[in-house]
Amino acid sequence: VGEKRMSNYKCTKRILTRLFTVFINLVNGCRDVLVVHHQGQLYAMDVRCYHSGGALQYGDIEEFNGRLCIVCPWHKYKITLAEGESLYQAVDDPTAKPLRTYWRSKGVKQRVHKVTEVNGDVYVMLNDSGEAIESDVYQTEKYRRASLKAKPKAKPKT
Ligand code: FES
Repeated sequence: VGEKRMSNYKCTKRILTRLFTVFINLVNGCRDVLVVHHQGQLYAMDVRCYHSGGALQYGDIEEFNGRLCIVCPWHKYKITLAEGESLYQAVDDPTAKPLRTYWRSKGVKQRVHKVTEVNGDVYVMLNDSGEAIESDVYQTEKYRRASLKAKPKAKPKT
């Protein structure tokens, strides 16, 4: 995938597999965005995990509490595809047996972007709202260079 000098990115849907990373050059910097095509729906979010810069393009997609999430391959944080919320399992009473857990949200931690399809073309429109979101930290040149060199970790043999 090439780089485009604009804040919106376009590609064709047929080249989208499950996960797809686009590197978008902005006039005043770069933004690396992961585009996810899952069960007919498109999602876009910053490609590096808000927690510690994990490579979300190697994450699995799973449902938790009825919400689709990408699971970061580094420390298994769960991030909702649609909103960028981080989900975790909470307990009221850690001494209770059996332990009762339920899902809670830490709020929006990963910046999500708008992605639309028109006649088979996929458009990503960056969410450049001024409010800081934790994943913004990993959109600097330092992390960008590191992640471009990163290779996927081998899956454990079963
Ligand atoms: S870097 Fe993603 S969970 Fe830690």
